Amino acid sequence: MRVALTGASGFLGSAFARELSAAGHLVTGLVRPSSRRDHIEAVVDRFVVGDQADPTCWPDLLDGAECVIHNSLDWSSMRPEPPDLGAHLATNLAGSLLLLRDSAPRQFVFVSSMAVYHEILPRPVGPHGLALVDEDHPLRPRNEYGAYKAAIESHLWAAHLGDGRHTCAIRPCAVYGIDPRLERSHGFQVVQELRRSGAYSKPGGLNFVHIDDVARALVATVGNPAAAGRVYNLVDCHALHADWAAMAAEVLGIQPDIAVNEADRPAHAFSKAAAATLGVRLDRGHAGILAHLRELISVLDQASP
Ligand SMILES: NC(=O)c1ccc[n+]([C@@H]2O[C@H](COP(=O)([O-])OP(=O)(O)OC[C@H]3O[C@@H](n4cnc5c(N)ncnc54)[C@H](OP(=O)(O)O)[C@@H]3O)[C@@H](O)[C@H]2O)c1
Repeated sequence: MRVALTGASGFLGSAFARELSAAGHLVTGLVRPSSRRDHIEAVVDRFVVGDQADPTCWPDLLDGAECVIHNSLDWSSMRPEPPDLGAHLATNLAGSLLLLRDSAPRQFVFVSSMAVYHEILPRPVGPHGLALVDEDHPLRPRNEYGAYKAAIESHLWAAHLGDGRHTCAIRPCAVYGIDPRLERSHGFQVVQELRRSGAYSKPGGLNFVHIDDVARALVATVGNPAAAGRVYNLVDCHALHADWAAMAAEVLGIQPDIAVNEADRPAHAFSKAAAATLGVRLDRGHAGILAHLRELISVLDQASP
């Protein structure tokens, strides 16, 4: 089917376009006048140039499409500290809600985020002795980004339960893989720092998921009646920043001092059961991160031997 995809030029969007095209879909990609396109020319059937919050480009974007994947996010309003709330509400919040409304009755797939969670409530302990959190846990974000994602999710359920529309959302955690803007790839900073100083120190960690698994999950929702009214947490594994540094050091063949604070590991894990219904197992673990670091370091070495 024809799928309208916003943010087609970005990290996730370009992977979505590749996976959609490989699955036989025709992609209409929304890009900005300044967006890079060379990396997606082969997988985007038709480009529409415009802004995510400009309704005048939507008729062209939606023409012939049976499904909309809303993936773009205007980071420029979120990045200043404090964020430019007015600009963020206009482009991200209002833009998304109006696109949801104006694209009816098409299927609408929203790229949300695990940032909808921050405070985790007590939950039964699952395998590995960790409290197991699933999609039914309440959404308790800690910042405007997570609150924005949670707000759009609420409107998805209203469109689904109120109007019977096919809406759904995927919630990736921190996504790793080779970003078209290489320096934004997870692990880039770690490798640079290890090469520069031979040491690395950063407390804490994050949940991670591989870009290919996110793209597969996304494409599995397209035209899938079983995905209507569903949301999918996409978490493969937790890793400390120190774990990344230790794995990068292994690939680089160096032995820096890396402080690992086991207290930084979380007491909960996220259920993979919903994602499994999309055929995505999310079981790469730290081996997946190590394989990514090998690829990243090889790409970096080729770029500047
Ligand atoms: N990366 C992650 O770890 C992660 C995790 C969870 C969820 N997500 C979600 O995934 C989505 C994509 O994120 P990403 O990491 O792929 O970011 P990204 O690489 O920065 O991609 C953002 C995309 O949105 C486009 N865009 C930005 N502002 C726009 C506007 N005003 N009008 C039209 N297009 C606009 C960008 O176009 P240009 O190419 O012109 O900049 C780009 O194609 C976001 O919704 C994000 O919240 C990402």
